[in-house]
Amino acid sequence: MISTLFICLGNICRSPMAEGLFIHHVKEAGLLDQFEIDSAGTGGWHAGERADPRMLETAAKNKIHLPSRARQVKPKDFEAFDYMIVMDHSNKRDIEKLKKQHGGKAQIILMRDFDELGKGEAVPDPYYGGGKGFDEVYEMLNRSTAGFLNWIQEERGISS
Ligand code: 4NP
Repeated sequence: MISTLFICLGNICRSPMAEGLFIHHVKEAGLLDQFEIDSAGTGGWHAGERADPRMLETAAKNKIHLPSRARQVKPKDFEAFDYMIVMDHSNKRDIEKLKKQHGGKAQIILMRDFDELGKGEAVPDPYYGGGKGFDEVYEMLNRSTAGFLNWIQEERGISS
């Protein structure tokens, strides 16, 4: 089983969309039984909530299902997951600091390192912006999650 945890700040905008899109790509590749896919936030303010209504609308428009209920990253995630995929550099710093405290095997990776149109850049937080932000985040995450799956398949020698 390959386990992946998508992480942002609140776990109601970016990481739920990354999770939903990754599930979609893995399903299309016929590999769903080989993956555990989840998302979480470095903060816990929205624990228990579904994705932000604006993100749910963007997802519905693109026929993507977002199953997430927000939760905060917990110490045992660092041992339970193979990959922790963070949305921006602030998430990366926070998660690297927590990994130092808790230990664990998880590899921490920046989501857009798999986006050929923005390697090394952040997925911007759309929470305080307008609707266009959500569509742009969708496009970035669609490219990045597809690229991430390709990378894992190559890395592990898995064909679709
Ligand atoms: P996300 O967006 O990290 O993409 O889920 C945010 C949602 C809520 C908050 C911050 C970021 N908040 O501070 O409540």
